[in-house]
Amino acid sequence: MMFPNNFLWGASTSAYQCEGAATSYGKGLSVMDVSSVFQECGVTDVEVASDHYHRFIEDISLMAEMGFKAYRFSVSWSRILPNGIGEVNEEGIAHYHRVLDELEKHHIEPIVTMYHFDLPLALQDKGGWSNRSTIDAFTEYASVLFSHFGDRIKYWLTINEQNMMIIHGDALGTSSHRKVNNEKKDLYQQNHHMLVAQAKVMQLCHKMTDAKIGPAPNISSVYPATPHPDDMLAASNASAIRNWLYLDAAVFGKYNSIAWSFMESEGIIPDIHEGDMEVLKSAQPDFIAFNYYSNMTVQRSRGESITQVKDQQMGESEPGYFESVPNHTLNKNEYGWEIDPIGFRYCLREVWDRYSLPMIVTENGLGAKDILVIGDDNIPTVIDDYRIDYLRAHIKQMRLAIEDGCDVFGYCPWSAIDLVSTHQGMNKRYGFIYVNRDEFDLKDLARYKKKSFYWYQSVISKNGTSL
Ligand code: BG6
Repeated sequence: MMFPNNFLWGASTSAYQCEGAATSYGKGLSVMDVSSVFQECGVTDVEVASDHYHRFIEDISLMAEMGFKAYRFSVSWSRILPNGIGEVNEEGIAHYHRVLDELEKHHIEPIVTMYHFDLPLALQDKGGWSNRSTIDAFTEYASVLFSHFGDRIKYWLTINEQNMMIIHGDALGTSSHRKVNNEKKDLYQQNHHMLVAQAKVMQLCHKMTDAKIGPAPNISSVYPATPHPDDMLAASNASAIRNWLYLDAAVFGKYNSIAWSFMESEGIIPDIHEGDMEVLKSAQPDFIAFNYYSNMTVQRSRGESITQVKDQQMGESEPGYFESVPNHTLNKNEYGWEIDPIGFRYCLREVWDRYSLPMIVTENGLGAKDILVIGDDNIPTVIDDYRIDYLRAHIKQMRLAIEDGCDVFGYCPWSAIDLVSTHQGMNKRYGFIYVNRDEFDLKDLARYKKKSFYWYQSVISKNGTSL
């Protein structure tokens, strides 16, 4: 079995992690521009990042050289609406038009995330997602995007990793402004507001444009640590709370019953207004986008609250429901993330079985401390065979999932170019293109092609037949 002819090979980035120009050209601040996570972790912030704002022409031409069919990037909400609502920043609109012009020139399909962790600070100051009016703000923002770019973009993604913002907001830096007493209840209230906002925006997209739209959570299948029925139940709990809560609401327009009973016993059922459930029910995504890095393994919870690792891909536990354990059958990357390509096939099959909607993988990849060396042609490069091995193994499994009958229409690993990691700075790199800067020394920000650049170029040119 082959990849379909029009398969969308590409890669991903997000605005705050690569654009830079965080306080220029009329952009308002976002929560990520002032996030304490960077100081806490002693890593670089996002003021300059990869300087993609100024260098997108060069970056997109390198993507074209790799043969990209698609580029998944996010629009910065506060670059479009500096206050989150109201006045539109025309410079921001013009910037993204220039990015789209460039992509069009190279026949690269834009896949655009509307919101990737960077809520406008002005909205956060009014309570962020805890405040119900952020639903209207997101709808207003979407309507600005659809009216300016609706005829240029065929694929929209609503919210990147809503589930990780709820479960791991501290690691990502999206919840560092939260000042509430009943934290968990507030989080699930935020979650409800995001679900309603997403549903409204999916409806609006179908009303205002001919484009397709879908959610973009981070999905991990969940293995039981042993065949003990208690561990099986723990795995079922974890999957419902981590995955299906989010996708069932987006696709079926209802709360997953296991996740609901978890929220009920924890006393964290959100305040649901009249009409909210009808809004969820009446919206339909056209596809499911999801990010996959690793699966998780759990055992029955012993009830005690165990120390959580502050990382979105590790250490998730819910006392009383499930407890994460390492999977000793898998190798780990240098940041402790388990590498599980076969689990990727399993995960694709699970999402397909459950929802029967076309799927696109919007993140997958290997974070590593790349080392720049001088190549044969005297030009700096990175010999990132470890990244090639990771991607090759995952693409092979994706091909097998397609043979299994899964409808997968694109693959956009993380990341097109090196960018600032959510909480591990510039040294944790994912790109096919090296960005010449260090954690705090900006150097010349020059772009260098890694070995994986040439490898991915050949994968795309042969449409995945030779890996
Ligand atoms: C995902 C996010 O969680 O993982 C990205 O959508 C992020 O924004 C990526 O960068 C890799 O995670 P990290 O923590 O290594 O940057």
